[in-house]
Amino acid sequence: MELRRQHLIDPVVCIRCNTCQEACPVDAITHDANNYVVSFEKCTGCRTCVSPCPTGAIDNWLLVDNPWNIEAQFGWDELPVEQSGPGESEPAPLPPEEVSDLLAAATATTGPSVPAPANASKPYVNLYSREKPVLARVAGNMRITGENTESDIHHVVLDFGSNAFPFLEGQSIGIVPPGVDAKGRAHNIRLYSIASPREGERTGFNNLALTVKRVPGGTGSNYVCDLKKGDEVRVAGPFGQSFLMPDDPEANIVMICTGTGSAPFRAFTERRRRGTHESSGKLMLFFGARTPEELPYFGPLMKLPKALIDVNLAFSRVDGQPKQYVQDKLRQRSDDLAALLGSAKTHIYICGLKGMEQGCDEAFADLCRLHGLDWAELRPLMRKDGRYHVETY
Ligand code: A2P
Repeated sequence: MELRRQHLIDPVVCIRCNTCQEACPVDAITHDANNYVVSFEKCTGCRTCVSPCPTGAIDNWLLVDNPWNIEAQFGWDELPVEQSGPGESEPAPLPPEEVSDLLAAATATTGPSVPAPANASKPYVNLYSREKPVLARVAGNMRITGENTESDIHHVVLDFGSNAFPFLEGQSIGIVPPGVDAKGRAHNIRLYSIASPREGERTGFNNLALTVKRVPGGTGSNYVCDLKKGDEVRVAGPFGQSFLMPDDPEANIVMICTGTGSAPFRAFTERRRRGTHESSGKLMLFFGARTPEELPYFGPLMKLPKALIDVNLAFSRVDGQPKQYVQDKLRQRSDDLAALLGSAKTHIYICGLKGMEQGCDEAFADLCRLHGLDWAELRPLMRKDGRYHVETY
């Protein structure tokens, strides 16, 4: 019997975020409505997909004598047991020249996985899973967009009581909706960004807030938006090791978001606002929404001191006003942004709709050109330093 090592994704831990599929340089990873899977024939074991995975679900390497095909993997609810009993957990290493070829290919297509900022705090990850969640109680649930608007976005506070749940700004949690899916299986976890700073939504309390938009027909978002004070919720996580805040009061942080993509930036801003020492680093926020009524946290945002944060709002559907996107605002603030881009203490974060990623990239390229900078050179440098982060969906 010839034993081989097969790269597999654990369906119980996987949060279906697509980062592995995007990272794979040889298109070995694919998915259906149920699972993310790895083609045994295509996978080279280069591990390019491993570090971007926020949960570690990707890092399974089982000894097999008869590799599973992708159709079999689509049907799994959990990983099978190893065909030959337990073995080592690491794949056989590839020859170095093959690894560097693959990494070069990965960089050319999707860019390398982005490290956390050099001076970010060390995050805890995967303390709880779908199978072994922690129980939290709903401490509050409030709609934060106008009553008569299409966007029904909620600010939901979860209290962990005496259960440990350490987290950092920029991390996410998984919510396990109760019940089963159409096929009678437990629901996959739904991922939501944390909107609170590490000290808690209320300083000193073991709690955190989420910013959740109701999606018509969506199992997770309707469950969360309908939660009542006192309800018990099953939580997995925390997740995420890259989209973290630099723990440096001198860091300049440019935050660009739409809709619920604002959650991590609320956490970053609160961290600075409540900070014990004065920050010399700038906070610049670019926030896009259809109208002021549909912009989550509009009221509190307007009350933040100008010395703390430079707020730039882009509204796309206000009667009588031209349509504006965040990238238009970036161009308007071109002088200030170019000045910040010249500093190695500047970090850029983009979070929200997929479409704005390209728009922002083009705006940065334009404003750099105007100011004698080269975005094509600068962006990879910032990524390598953990100073350019994008989370879009
Ligand atoms: P639009 O009015 O064109 O939909 P949503 O409310 O759907 O979550 O969107 C948040 C904001 O992001 C809206 O103002 C929306 O404008 C805007 N938006 C949509 N597509 C893009 C894009 N490609 N780049 C930047 N902003 C966008």
